[in-house]
Amino acid sequence: MSSPIRVCLIGAGRAGRVHANSLAHHAPGARLSAVVDGVAANRVAVGEEFSIDPRGRFASLEEALAEGEFDAVVITTPTFTHKPLAVAAASAGKHVFLEKPMALTLQECDEIEAATLKTGVVLQLGFMRRFDPDFAAAAERIEAGEIGQPMLVKSLTHGPGLPPPWARDLTTSNGLLAEVNSHDFDTVRWLMRSNPQRIYVEVANFKGPSRGVDTPNFYDNALTNIRFESGGLGSISGVCPCDYGYDARVEIVGERGIMQIGEMRGQSVIVCTSREQGLITPIYRTWPERFAWGYIREMEHFVGCIAKGAQPKVSAQDGRWAVASVLAGNKSWLEERPVLLKEVLDAC
Ligand SMILES: NC(=O)c1ccc[n+]([C@@H]2O[C@H](COP(=O)([O-])OP(=O)(O)OC[C@H]3O[C@@H](n4cnc5c(N)ncnc54)[C@H](O)[C@@H]3O)[C@@H](O)[C@H]2O)c1
Repeated sequence: MSSPIRVCLIGAGRAGRVHANSLAHHAPGARLSAVVDGVAANRVAVGEEFSIDPRGRFASLEEALAEGEFDAVVITTPTFTHKPLAVAAASAGKHVFLEKPMALTLQECDEIEAATLKTGVVLQLGFMRRFDPDFAAAAERIEAGEIGQPMLVKSLTHGPGLPPPWARDLTTSNGLLAEVNSHDFDTVRWLMRSNPQRIYVEVANFKGPSRGVDTPNFYDNALTNIRFESGGLGSISGVCPCDYGYDARVEIVGERGIMQIGEMRGQSVIVCTSREQGLITPIYRTWPERFAWGYIREMEHFVGCIAKGAQPKVSAQDGRWAVASVLAGNKSWLEERPVLLKEVLDAC
């Protein structure tokens, strides 16, 4: 049996813990051997929880590259750090799993892709919905022609709580469209099997003032309309914080039928104790809960691709298209007009 792929987690925050769990408990071909986080408490907490040797806990990637022993990195840091970390890791010959959004700009995406191509390492983007059993089954059935040519898609993501401060700020994250709706931008392009051509976005800020958010240009609701190159149409809604739970659903209409993916119910248990209250059933509360299988399977896929020398299903170009959609979307609401993707792509 070949030796396990040694993985270094970079960023021991919310997403980092989810991937640490997948690597430690669900990916037999991998071993979580190192962790990097500038905040000592975070790297120690993850180090302890996932039994990473104290000598494998580092304050920076530079230190880890100099002193650590690993074959791959999983990057789960804020968006504005993705480019320098991914380029440094790839240039050192480490395979890279990179959380969405790929980067802040298209130029940064290109630099990341170029660095991975130069050393021939695997690069996989963190679009776990592609590995969710329901989303994956729907994509296969669309591909098989079951509902005919896709004409119209509606996708929504509503997140429960305020994202961390860096994720609310356009300058460090590109805002809610990037942080929450990147997944939808990837999903609609994947399911429609067509690139977006034109995007129009409206945003609104309902809860920011009462939650003490004074970040310039903060918004907590976004509605995106899309025309695809195929002629198909799409819409994406984003709400964060929605407070009621975690909600991710898609409806896709084809020439021969309709398909719905996902539901609000987080359990199949339904209780009724009174006519007044009606049916009671739990909702998904968090994203790690809703996409538990997606997170596990995307990590299995990453480790499997490294072991087999295969290309991952979710490529740099998929990450780049989602970033391009976000940039066109931000331009749209800031300039109050529909924006052609070509404007953003040509400006790079
Ligand atoms: N796929 C998903 O469903 C999903 C869900 C949540 C977050 N994310 C993505 O994961 C990434 C991180 O988000 P989060 O919510 O976990 O953030 P977070 O703020 O909870 O955690 C980020 C961690 O990175 C550390 N960090 C910051 N800069 C660093 C650096 N240069 N080197 C090492 N560590 C550094 C911080 O100290 C912190 O511990 C973002 O790209 C986000 O969009 C993806």
